[in-house]
Amino acid sequence: MVEISASVLNVEKENSAQTFYNLETSGIDYFHIDVMDGDFVEQNTVTKMMEYINIIKQISNIPIDVHLMVKDIDEFVEYYIPFEPNRITIHYEADKQETLLEQIKKIKENKIKIGISVKPNTKIEEVFPLLPFVHMCLVMTVEPGKGGQELIPSTIEKIKRLKEYVEENQLDVDIEADGGINLQTAAQVKKAGANILVVGTALIQTENYKEMVAELKKE
Ligand code: DX5
Ligand code: ZN
Repeated sequence: MVEISASVLNVEKENSAQTFYNLETSGIDYFHIDVMDGDFVEQNTVTKMMEYINIIKQISNIPIDVHLMVKDIDEFVEYYIPFEPNRITIHYEADKQETLLEQIKKIKENKIKIGISVKPNTKIEEVFPLLPFVHMCLVMTVEPGKGGQELIPSTIEKIKRLKEYVEENQLDVDIEADGGINLQTAAQVKKAGANILVVGTALIQTENYKEMVAELKKE
């Protein structure tokens, strides 16, 4: 069964604690923290995500899935390690491979799972050499930088190719699809091989979170 990682990017600030509580009781598997530095992507959510992870850690034990859309990976890894997230995902495009490998090592040394994320225009084959060193590959199904976008259809093929490669090489790598996931697109990315779905807008805007999460998880 797929896991659901709820993106908190578009959660409204007022009564955010109530929203996080409602999400926790809806059956989600992770809270997805979208950290944007205003440099790697245009938007800056650094302060908002700092506030949100503090609130979430006070009220919930649901594992945290941190998605760093940042240039200075080291600065943000340092900041988020003390929150003991389940996983931290860094972007393939943020730095050269040797630096990425150093960050991968550092995150693992802190007993945190490591994800590598690829933007829609990055060929999935480019990240293959890093897969033996990571726990997850996050395939961006929208251009990183904001919520509420439409899934880019060509990214489905990337998930399929990634799944084939992971199976051919017997790698133990989660495949996370992130961006524009709703009931229609969830079926496509699951079929392609994603086992963790990041859902933001499509979940936050529904009346009944529990129902939506159950629908998204249906085989
Ligand atoms: C976009 C973020 C995604 C996004 C998902 O840069 O990485 O996690 O917030 O939100 P929706 O589901 O609204 O596309
Ligand atoms: Zn994300």
